[in-house]
Amino acid sequence: MRTLVDNGPRVLVMVGLPARGKTYLARKLVRYLNWRGVTAQVFNVGNYRRRDLGSAQPAAFFDPDNPVGFEARRGVAQAALDDLMQWVAHNPNGVAVYDATNVTRSRRAHLTRTLAEVDIEPIFVESICTDEAVVEANIRETKLSMPDYADARPDAATRDFRARIAHYQRSYEPLTTSEGPWIKLVDVGEQVHLNRIRGFLPSRIVFFLMNLHIVPRPIFLMRHGESAYNVQKRIGGDPDLTERGRDFADRASQYLQRRCSTPPSLWTSTLQRTIQTASAFPWTPTALRSLDEIDAGRCDGWTYDEVRTQMPEEFAARKLDKLRYRYPRGESYEDVMDRLEPLIVELERQRDPVVIVAHQAVLRCLVAYLTDRSPEDCPFLEIPLHTVIELVPKAYPGAEVRTELGP
Ligand code: F6P
Repeated sequence: MRTLVDNGPRVLVMVGLPARGKTYLARKLVRYLNWRGVTAQVFNVGNYRRRDLGSAQPAAFFDPDNPVGFEARRGVAQAALDDLMQWVAHNPNGVAVYDATNVTRSRRAHLTRTLAEVDIEPIFVESICTDEAVVEANIRETKLSMPDYADARPDAATRDFRARIAHYQRSYEPLTTSEGPWIKLVDVGEQVHLNRIRGFLPSRIVFFLMNLHIVPRPIFLMRHGESAYNVQKRIGGDPDLTERGRDFADRASQYLQRRCSTPPSLWTSTLQRTIQTASAFPWTPTALRSLDEIDAGRCDGWTYDEVRTQMPEEFAARKLDKLRYRYPRGESYEDVMDRLEPLIVELERQRDPVVIVAHQAVLRCLVAYLTDRSPEDCPFLEIPLHTVIELVPKAYPGAEVRTELGP
C-alpha cells in the first residue's frame, strides 16, 4: 500500500442492465487500483456462468419467470460471491469488484447481508445508459465477440442479446437511497450521483470514475530524441538533443501528422530534451513537471558505471528492488507512479488524441498502466529511443503498436 490508506477490505458491487459498460468500468477500476499499489480483483458472474453452465444460453434462460434459469443463475452468482468472500479474507487491504447485473433489490440485499457477516458494507456502482445508440454500439463491439455467441450470426446474436436485456428490464429496480453507499453513473462521462460516499479510497474511486468516458482515441507515447547524455550514457540532467535526436523529432512530426485526424493534446516534461523534440511538431505543447524523468538525486548526471564504482551499495540495492529503490535524495519508480496519478486521470478524461513526449522511466509507468502490467514488471519494460508507441485505452488492454522511426 503506497498512498491509498484505508480501513479493511472494500467490495464494490456493479449494478445495471446488460450492455451498460459494467465490465468496462470494473476492469478499468481494478487496473487503476492495481497500478496504484492496491490489490484489486474482479469477480465476473458471467464467467462463472460460462464455466459452470456452458456459454451458449438462449435469452429465455435469463427470463426471471423461468424457474430453472433463475435457480441456475442464483447458483453461479453464489459461487462468485463465495470466491469473493474467500478473497477478501486473504486480502485485508484489497478491493474486490463483484461484476454482475444485480438488478433486483433482493439480490442486492442478499449481497449486503452476506458481506455484513464479515463487517463489510459494499459500495454499489450503477451504470445507467440513456442513449440507445451507445447500447447498440456496446452490443456490437463487445457482446458479439463473447463466447456466448461464438457460433451465432451477428444479427441473430444481436436479437438474442436484446431479448436478454428485455428480460432483465422487467425485474430491474434501480438503486434507492436506503440501500447503502452508491455511485450512479449516467451515460459514463456525463453525470455522477452519489449516496453516502465517504473516506479516502471511495472518494478516489469516484474521482477516477467521473473522468472516464467511452470515446475511443489514440494515445501516442515517445521518448525525446537522442540527447547528449544518451550518447555519453549518463542518467538524468537537462541535456540538449543531438543532431540525430533532432532528425527523429522531424520524422516523428511527419508521422504524427499522418496519424492524427484531429489536433492532439501535446504534453512534454519540463526538460529541454522533450521540449526540443516537441518543438518540431505543429501543435502547442504543455510542459508538465509530472512527466519529468525519475529524479536520480545524488546520482543525477552520472553514468551507471560511476554509480557502480562510487556507490556500490546503492547500485546493489537498486538491482535488488528496482521498483521500490529510491535514489539518495531522489525518487523511486513507486514515487514516479504516485506523481503520475493525476496525469493518468487527465489522460482518461481527454477525448482528443494525446501525444506525450517524455522519458524512459516515466513512460514505463504510463505503459504499465495502459497495458495492465504489474508494478513489479514496470521498471523493466522496453521503451527504446526513436520509437512511437500507440495505444487506444479499452476495458481489455488495448493493442500496442510500436513504430520505429529511423536510427
Ligand atoms: O538513461 C536515460 C534515462 O532516461 C535516465 O535519465 C533515467 O535515469 C533512466 O533512463 C531510467 O531507466 P532505469 O530506471 O532503467 O535506470
